[in-house]
Amino acid sequence: MSTIDPSLHRRLGDAERCFLVAMEAATEAQKVIRRFWESGFDIRFKGNADLVTDADLAAESAIAAVIRSRLPGHALLGEETLRDAVDSEHLWVIDPIDGTTNFAHRIPHFAVSIAYVHQGVRKVGVVVNPITDDWHVAVAGQGAYHGVRRCRVSQETQLDQTVLATGFYYDRGRMMDATLATVGDLFRQNIHGIRRFGTASLDLAFVSRGLFGGFFEYRLSPWDHAAGALLVTEAGGRVTDCGGDELPWTGPSSVLASNGLLHEALFRAIAPHWNLCGQ
Ligand code: IPD
Ligand code: CA
Ligand code: CA
Repeated sequence: MSTIDPSLHRRLGDAERCFLVAMEAATEAQKVIRRFWESGFDIRFKGNADLVTDADLAAESAIAAVIRSRLPGHALLGEETLRDAVDSEHLWVIDPIDGTTNFAHRIPHFAVSIAYVHQGVRKVGVVVNPITDDWHVAVAGQGAYHGVRRCRVSQETQLDQTVLATGFYYDRGRMMDATLATVGDLFRQNIHGIRRFGTASLDLAFVSRGLFGGFFEYRLSPWDHAAGALLVTEAGGRVTDCGGDELPWTGPSSVLASNGLLHEALFRAIAPHWNLCGQ
């Protein structure tokens, strides 16, 4: 996407302006990430098996620079360095590279995820795979799109008709065991398969496209789900935490997303193990 004329920004309504800013910021991040993808990058450990690269940091700075220049005064919450107040009226929630483990291992399945949240309500979401150039965008009340195609969740009503997705937080203890136990129970209910692709925002995008009937993960941060959750709801699906409540902005939570029709069945399979792992 090419740079946008500043005078256009002044003439637009809030949602359109934020949508264009999100697209411009994601485009800048895409350029930065592609440069590192071609030329190489350094990898460091943030925690146990939790990687970060210089591409994550550079992409986050590029996104912040676009939003700050277009919308001064808006608050920024980003995985690597951005820590403005989560209860700000205008909040941007940013994961510069969701799926860093894939990026670091040169698996081309990761995403830039950017959401704009007004007074605690998701208004704009962009999830783009910078390598395959797959763009997923949503504006509240205007639907979700994968490129030029409108996204619609699947119509499956039973678990034995569907493929699901899950993710594992960096924990190698109770949370991992609980996730594996849930996966076992779901297989015993004859699901067609369960995928662990390693990028929560794209897992949610795939739910919005009707590829997965549902997705769950026991611990995600707001930047992992902010944009993807809007894709799902704008495509007709449902997103809650694994207790059936709304997802918080204030910190980590579990996430359960579905086409809506499978939500109760997934909840029944997931909640017992979720409760036992005590998150
Ligand atoms: C991770 C990815 C992964 C999920 C992890 C997240 P990161 O984000 O979304 O799919 O399983 O829980 O932390 O660390 O690559 O930005
Ligand atoms: Ca992430
Ligand atoms: Ca990340």
